[in-house]
Amino acid sequence: MPNGPQIILTLKVLVVTVTILLFASLVALLLKRPRLHGHINTAFFVLTMLTVVAFEALLQWVNVSSTFDDAARQALRTHLFFSVPSALLLPAMIVTGKMRRKQLHLVLAAVFLLLWTGTVITGLGLPH
Ligand code: HEM
Repeated sequence: MPNGPQIILTLKVLVVTVTILLFASLVALLLKRPRLHGHINTAFFVLTMLTVVAFEALLQWVNVSSTFDDAARQALRTHLFFSVPSALLLPAMIVTGKMRRKQLHLVLAAVFLLLWTGTVITGLGLPH
């Protein structure tokens, strides 16, 4: 069973990896390839959701924050403040994209980008 620091480090690698996919999907939009944007983001969605589910499952056995001091626990809370709403927004991003609800998709995209930026910055700052 991995320990808390190993889990946090693995999560950081995964967050950076899926963020590269998100960047690639935005480049696809700049290149006027919206379908490619959709395909890349479908992969982004699946990988991110698998990560969330795997992490939740691991939390049943490992107390990730047991080695954390108070400051680190606060940092984890701040991180969850961004990461939980981002994960909740993802299904809405897929649905509005696939249904071509462009206006709604773009409004949600603005909120999602803010939340995801917060997720990455506060996630990489966690101790491991
Ligand atoms: C973060 C910034 C994002 C921007 C600015 C953005 C923008 C767009 C735009 C302009 C389209 C074309 C819509 C149309 O022509 O009707 C589109 C399509 C789409 N987007 Fe996004 N999007 C973003 C994020 C995401 C995310 C995070 C997901 C999923 C997790 C997603 C999934 C999709 C899908 C599935 C399509 C449909 C592609 C197709 O035509 O098959 N997008 N997006």
